Amino acid sequence: MSNHLFQTYNLGQLTLQNRAVMAPMTRSRAINNILNDLMVTYYQQRAGAGLIITEGTSPSPNGLGYARIPGIFNQEQVAGWRKVTDAVHAKGAKIFIQLMHTGRVSHHVNLPEGAKVIAPSDMTAAGDMWTDAEGMKPHTQPHALTTEEVKATIQEYVNAAKLAIDAGFDGVELHAANGYLIEQFINGVVNNRTDEYGGSVANRSKFLLEIAEQTIAAIGKEKVGVRFSPFSGFNDIPAYNEVTETYDYLSKKLNDLGVAYLHFLDHSPNDWI
Ligand SMILES: Cc1cc2nc3c(=O)[nH]c(=O)nc-3n(C[C@H](O)[C@H](O)[C@H](O)COP(=O)(O)O)c2cc1C
Repeated sequence: MSNHLFQTYNLGQLTLQNRAVMAPMTRSRAINNILNDLMVTYYQQRAGAGLIITEGTSPSPNGLGYARIPGIFNQEQVAGWRKVTDAVHAKGAKIFIQLMHTGRVSHHVNLPEGAKVIAPSDMTAAGDMWTDAEGMKPHTQPHALTTEEVKATIQEYVNAAKLAIDAGFDGVELHAANGYLIEQFINGVVNNRTDEYGGSVANRSKFLLEIAEQTIAAIGKEKVGVRFSPFSGFNDIPAYNEVTETYDYLSKKLNDLGVAYLHFLDHSPNDWI
């Protein structure tokens, strides 16, 4: 019997050197949200995998809710990530960057000057988070995005995906799981909007689908994956009706768009189902 784990795998146009995929893990080592040598070493040490998904990385200053998470929205960050992608490619692995906008799972003192905590609604996420400046603090109440601001936020994801390609990444994973901004839009309670981005399953899905569609147009469908955690209560994601219908709808739409993969995370042992 052959050992499949150590055989190559074709993911779209990429050939993975084996079938081990490293899950995204936030490490909180990016001082000032910029890459550093410790992070280059960390990824290089793990480049025996077929595919690495990076730690959650913000496409916007507004999405840097946790202390010391990296970004991918300026040239300094691109230059830092380029060192990571070069180091990983030198050992034969492929690497996707996970685009994670924290949305309302955030505290304003963690954000750079001028940035703000945003979400589909102004409902504050229950719970506390670490800040380097003030220790543990309750989440900040978010600003509910206007329709125009939603569209600008979508553009931030698309821009980040283009910068990711400039930085040498093989693709991007859109983090639509674990209660961060995209899941805040998908959720039928946190998203109480009355515009085109709220209400029906199709409207709540629109934020993600527009990001996916425009990102695919910018960098190619084989370079875009999506992570979901249906039925999760993580990060104060409340139960709502139509969960099955929502993910059924999203999966079919993303399949039609031809994304590289869907990455499902099962929190069910300790959540609300
Ligand atoms: C310290 C830590 C950081 C994590 N950071 C992220 C992250 O940035 N993005 C993400 O999608 N998942 C993140 N996760 C979730 C993991 O990717 C993974 O789904 C989780 O650990 C469950 O996998 P396991 O059952 O093999 O432990 C994190 C998990 C841990 C323990």
